[in-house]
Amino acid sequence: MKILIKKTYEELNKEAAKIVKEAIQAKPNLVLGLATGGTPLGCYQELIQIHKAGKLDFSKVAIFNLDEYLGLSTDHPQSYNYFMYENLLDYININRENFHIPDGMTKNIEKFCQEYEEKIQKAGGIDLQLLGIGRDGHVGFNEPGTPLDSRTQLVKLAESTIKDNSRFFERKEDVPRFAITLGVQTIFEAKKILLLASGENKADAVAKFIEGPITPQITASILQKHPDTIVILDEAAALKLKGKY
Ligand code: GLP
Repeated sequence: MKILIKKTYEELNKEAAKIVKEAIQAKPNLVLGLATGGTPLGCYQELIQIHKAGKLDFSKVAIFNLDEYLGLSTDHPQSYNYFMYENLLDYININRENFHIPDGMTKNIEKFCQEYEEKIQKAGGIDLQLLGIGRDGHVGFNEPGTPLDSRTQLVKLAESTIKDNSRFFERKEDVPRFAITLGVQTIFEAKKILLLASGENKADAVAKFIEGPITPQITASILQKHPDTIVILDEAAALKLKGKY
């Protein structure tokens, strides 16, 4: 893993957007894996600005999102589908047919998950996967205890995740208890991975996944074995790292 520590969240976003931009410029039909949550928002803003300045064409890019809450329809304001349109897709020239995200309303979850995996394979696999990290070290919605060889599946959300994500909902009780997520192994198979973490509340998870053992208790720790992962942190998120980077 390559670890980059930036002074501020703003600098982190610029660096992350630069990496995404260069990947699209090198391969206009890039297969891009995207994430939701607060962390990638700044990077998405940067990408929108670069696109508006005429410097980035998304017309051939394919996007596969990491996860979706079970039971939220695509037009639910807290669904990750809605999030993606509101925060990125409505402002770039993505071909909507090239945007994929798990369907939180699917009637046959197992079949859906298998087909989602197949779609990724058919597209040639994910070239660049953007990730955030949960306070409990999860990537996607792969909570502590999820097998490291897992593929796209239905998962139960951890209490800490429900609490963290309740800030986007009116009441904590409104946060769905289940989600569909790309598996740990599916994420690991991306050719290049870019993980972003910002703020002191991520410092513990960051230190554990970078410097601790590889364990299903911290699903991001699998990235220690990945051949091409870049982690961009701001100084607050890097606070508990012991090594020099
Ligand atoms: C959710 C998402 C993750 C995200 C995490 C952290 O659980 N499923 O993909 O990385 O939240 O979110 P935030 O960036 O808001 O801290």
